[in-house]
Amino acid sequence: MINFEKFHVVDHPLIKHKLSIMREKETGSKDFRQMLSEIAMLMCYELTRDLPVNDVEIETPVAKMTAQRIDGKKLAIVPILRAGLGMVEGILNLVPVAKVGHIGLYRDPETHNPVEYYCKLPADIEERYVIVCDPMLATGGSASGAIDMLKQRGVKQIKLLCLVSAPEGVERLQTDHPDVEIFTAALDECLNEHAYIVPGLGDAGDRLFGTK
Ligand code: PRP
Ligand code: URA
Repeated sequence: MINFEKFHVVDHPLIKHKLSIMREKETGSKDFRQMLSEIAMLMCYELTRDLPVNDVEIETPVAKMTAQRIDGKKLAIVPILRAGLGMVEGILNLVPVAKVGHIGLYRDPETHNPVEYYCKLPADIEERYVIVCDPMLATGGSASGAIDMLKQRGVKQIKLLCLVSAPEGVERLQTDHPDVEIFTAALDECLNEHAYIVPGLGDAGDRLFGTK
């Protein structure tokens, strides 16, 4: 059972439109990349709605005032390689001072379990509010594994930004990490026998980088 208090479908018309273009099998890498980046930016707007702001004293051309600013130094973006890379630029457009860490995981084609091959994170990652991004939440193994790695390093505040999710992946993630809020653009029907999301959009990494 999905806990909808911690699972948000960000279904703005602009996101629906761009996601439909990404899903079409005829869409090439250039448009796929552009749409993914734009959707990540639009979704980041929703995901960061509860970011704390600090009071700062500023002076407008007319008067002094107390304004609010986000303490951007407290944020980190962590894409899961490879496909998560396609979301980083869009998020950085909104939070340009965020640091970026990388976690490399690939799915074993036989078992569908994630295999770790890379991890490079900001030195003070445990003090940061972390946005994990990956376009696909299929079995949930990769996202869950990446979040395990972050928690082992002391990270306490984590949100997951994904584009397309399967019910199986959402349930797995919520079982493994009930504290992590998930933001997605679409909740699809199911997984097929190869653990691909149906209808989904195919292999996100291959479509993003043109490797198939
Ligand atoms: C894809 C996708 C996710 C993962 C989702 O990556 O980008 O990381 O699969 O599947 P899961 O929820 O069942 O773990 P993949 O392993 O194909 O690697 P790639 O991004 O390098 O192509
Ligand atoms: N990874 C992808 O890229 N697509 C899927 O549908 C499932 C896992």
